[in-house]
Amino acid sequence: MGPLSYCVFYLILPLELCAGRAPASGASCAANCSCSASSVVDCSGAGLTDIPRDLPAHTVSLNLSHNKLRTVDASALATLPNLRELRLGYNELTSVPSLGAASPNIASLYLHHNKIQSIEFKQLKDLSSLETLDLSNNEISEVRVSCFPAGLRIKDLYLASNKISYLEMGAFNNLSSSLQILRLSRNRLTHLPVKAFQLPRLTQLELNRNRLRLIEGLTFQGLGTLEVLKLQRNNISKLTDGAFWGLAKMKALHLDYNSLTEVNSGSLYGLSSLLQLFLSNNSISHIKPDGWRFCPGLRELNLSYNNLTRLEEGSLAVLGDLQTLRLGHNSINHIVEGAFRGLRGLRLTLFGNKIKSVAKKAFSGLEALEHLNRSIPCRRIQSDSFLCDCQLRWFPEWLVARGLQSGVEAACAHPEALKGTSIFQAQPENFVCDDLPKPQITVQPETTVAVLGKDVRLSCTAASSSSSPMTFAWRKDQELLREAEVENFAHVRARDGDVMEYTTILHLRHVTFAHEGRYQCIITNHFGSSYSSKARLTVHVLPWFVKTPRDITVRTGTPARLECAAKGHPAPEIAWQKDGGTDFPAARERRMHVMPDDDVFFIMGVKPEDMGVYSCTAQNTAGTATANATLTVLETPHLAQELEDRSVAVGETVALQCKALGSPPPRVTWLKEEEPLRLTERHHFTPGNQLLVIRAAEPEDAGRYTCVMSNTLGTERAHSQLTVRHSAPCSTHGSRADSAVAVGVIVIAVVTSIVVTSLVWVCIIYQTRKKSEECSVTNTDETIVPPDVPSYLSSQGTLSDRQDVCIRVESNNRSHPNGHGKSNTSHLPPPCSFSKS
Ligand SMILES: *[C@@H]1O[C@H](CO)[C@@H](O)[C@H](O)[C@H]1NC(C)=O
Ligand SMILES: *[C@@H]1O[C@H](CO)[C@@H](O)[C@H](O)[C@H]1NC(C)=O
Ligand SMILES: *[C@@H]1O[C@H](CO)[C@@H](O)[C@H](O)[C@H]1NC(C)=O
Ligand SMILES: *[C@@H]1O[C@H](CO)[C@@H](O)[C@H](O)[C@H]1NC(C)=O
Ligand SMILES: *[C@@H]1O[C@H](CO)[C@@H](O)[C@H](O)[C@H]1NC(C)=O
Ligand SMILES: *[C@@H]1O[C@H](CO)[C@@H](O)[C@H](O)[C@H]1NC(C)=O
Ligand SMILES: *[C@@H]1O[C@H](CO)[C@@H](O)[C@H](O)[C@H]1NC(C)=O
Ligand SMILES: *[C@@H]1O[C@H](CO)[C@@H](O)[C@H](O)[C@H]1NC(C)=O
Ligand SMILES: *[C@@H]1O[C@H](CO)[C@@H](O)[C@H](O)[C@H]1NC(C)=O
Repeated sequence: MGPLSYCVFYLILPLELCAGRAPASGASCAANCSCSASSVVDCSGAGLTDIPRDLPAHTVSLNLSHNKLRTVDASALATLPNLRELRLGYNELTSVPSLGAASPNIASLYLHHNKIQSIEFKQLKDLSSLETLDLSNNEISEVRVSCFPAGLRIKDLYLASNKISYLEMGAFNNLSSSLQILRLSRNRLTHLPVKAFQLPRLTQLELNRNRLRLIEGLTFQGLGTLEVLKLQRNNISKLTDGAFWGLAKMKALHLDYNSLTEVNSGSLYGLSSLLQLFLSNNSISHIKPDGWRFCPGLRELNLSYNNLTRLEEGSLAVLGDLQTLRLGHNSINHIVEGAFRGLRGLRLTLFGNKIKSVAKKAFSGLEALEHLNRSIPCRRIQSDSFLCDCQLRWFPEWLVARGLQSGVEAACAHPEALKGTSIFQAQPENFVCDDLPKPQITVQPETTVAVLGKDVRLSCTAASSSSSPMTFAWRKDQELLREAEVENFAHVRARDGDVMEYTTILHLRHVTFAHEGRYQCIITNHFGSSYSSKARLTVHVLPWFVKTPRDITVRTGTPARLECAAKGHPAPEIAWQKDGGTDFPAARERRMHVMPDDDVFFIMGVKPEDMGVYSCTAQNTAGTATANATLTVLETPHLAQELEDRSVAVGETVALQCKALGSPPPRVTWLKEEEPLRLTERHHFTPGNQLLVIRAAEPEDAGRYTCVMSNTLGTERAHSQLTVRHSAPCSTHGSRADSAVAVGVIVIAVVTSIVVTSLVWVCIIYQTRKKSEECSVTNTDETIVPPDVPSYLSSQGTLSDRQDVCIRVESNNRSHPNGHGKSNTSHLPPPCSFSKS
């Protein structure tokens, strides 16, 4: 059977070829239709209101478009077992027709240009082989989840030019395993739900000519294989960060004819495979410097018909693979140095800008000049506004040297003498900077460090010889400051009368961290704009204490703890001082610990010398804060040295020393036999009562002396037994002198107290007439330490008939009291002068 039917089939074919469009004779083709060799039956444009009944059984493709079909009688198709493609475009259908027995075979169904108002689940459910469904140019107003039954294999779905204003979330999800192309352009969509499409096989999505205004982040997540996204001719003014996240395979993004005003990197985040980006016919005036960071592989970038006034240096630098850059029909008037840095082999279009000047190295980096050549010869630079001053002198020569002048149509606007002259005609020597119509910055704003809350002024001055009106603007981090408080004034420059100077001052009040950034002033007149250097403003905060050290009082031997912590911006450094200096007795003795992170300062085993004012200094670049704390050390009174019992000959001088230590310094009083001392003119005290000197001792001076030392912590007592002998020490040498009348002058000079590092001279000058004679006999030039002078006070003294004994008391330091035995005498300085009579 099989082989036979094929034979018949092939026999018929040549006949049909000859039959042409002639009314079919016999069963070969239907009336008003034409049949072709490849089983294509064309019944289009025949004014049919019903499907012909006599269609050939072998029909594979049936064209019924441009007829007047209102409904489809499925039984007419039941006799067409091979029907795969059915074209019903341009009819009057009001719903998707039911195709009956033919349904499971149909692969392509074209229903465009009908009057279909909705898509019904039941109409589609039997189209199990359907791959292409064209429903464009109908009257469908919404697409709901219930429209597409599961199990369909539609690859291409065309819904363009309907009235769709509502897309239910997940409306196409039942097509997710097959759908590759989805056309929704020319509808009435105003909003796309986030993650609206979960179509992992889709490669092309057309949403152009809808009414979208905003693309929210993650809108297109779920389209991992999408390569082309058309969003042009909407009214998109904002792309939220992450708007195209998830489109890692995307190659072409069409965003032209929208209302975008800027390009920032966040919205392009994730477009790592993007090759073509179309942004023409927007209102882009600003490209953030890192705008292209996330699509470094871009080959073609169309920014024509936007509002760019300037290309920032290096703003395209990441686009190393860029081959075509269209910047035509913007308002670019100056090409800065390095504007095209980082771009190699570029085809660049700058036609339709108002270029007035080109920085000398503007095209540096465009090594592959043949590409530039290719674009420039097509008159890609066209401007009659060039400022032909010394800074542009290089440009004509540069163009000529590269054979590029045919692409440039450029005339000077200034100076007056060159007005209207082509830059190639003007003589290079006429490109002069004698006058400066374009403002030139003479005073740049200065990089400033300000303290939080203070007011800051940034000022900027430019000079110009033109009387054309000046405008001033400030930018912070490339953004124009629209609401800033700015003060502008002009004055005639002193040294050359026809040059005006214009100053603009930006006032920033009560600066906060939000004011930090790079500020730039822009001074513009008809001849162009001058951009100042960028002044960085940094806001600092003076250090303030979060922990302030407190005055403390501790007993000796215990630890002292001082805390100090400060905050500020930058974080302050903490330093300690003692009594305004950096000498810490505790540090020398390694009793001091400063915790680096702990804000605490410890002194272990406190000693009286640790007492003082400790200053904690917190310092950062904004300034310094100091906090003081007094460390008071308490020590019970005690003796530095034991009180000794003494013996003195009558008439001699004796000194009792009560060297009391303690903190606060103890008060010293003397008792004799537990009674207050009865003072005579022979009793002398050093200040502080530490030394009791009894001159010309008498027998009744003998007794028990008590030194009472007291401070706030308590009272201590020490005793000394004084014995008064009747024989002088010299009597041991055979002297017979007994008691002698001592006529002497004792001069006690105490210069300072023991605390101070100084010298205390106690000069006791005494004269002993008789004894001196006797003693001089044997002891002349002999060094004698008077026994009644405490050993540590002793010094060399020479006795003579008129003897001057000089006692020098040295106290370097409270903690190092001199006088531990005679050894100390050796390093005492020579005593004060002696005179031998
Ligand atoms: C179907 O018919 C229309 C109208 O004659 C024609 O424009 C169209 O090209 C035809 N389609 C096919 C696939 O033959
Ligand atoms: C089909 O063609 C015949 C002439 O061959 C014509 O009379 C008839 O009106 C046509 N049918 C339709 C539905 O146009
Ligand atoms: C998918 O098809 C099923 C039935 O086949 C239907 O119930 C459902 O609404 C459709 N849509 C989704 C999103 O599952
Ligand atoms: C585009 O959007 C703006 C608001 O973003 C609106 O004012 C304007 O009318 C819209 N234009 C069109 C053509 O819808
Ligand atoms: C867009 O491009 C056309 C040229 O195709 C131009 O006339 C028009 O001014 C441009 N701008 C806008 C906003 O449409
Ligand atoms: C890019 O911009 C140019 C104008 O410079 C325009 O003529 C062209 O059609 C745009 N190309 C695309 C692919 O949008
Ligand atoms: C863009 O430029 C046109 C004309 O140059 C101007 O009318 C329009 O206001 C500008 N748009 C923006 C957003 O700056
Ligand atoms: C630039 O193009 C012209 C033809 O348009 C050609 O004659 C010239 O050699 C080219 N210059 C370079 C440097 O490629
Ligand atoms: C802290 O003490 C230092 C000297 O020790 C003094 O110069 C300074 O003025 C004091 N500061 C305060 C805040 O008391």
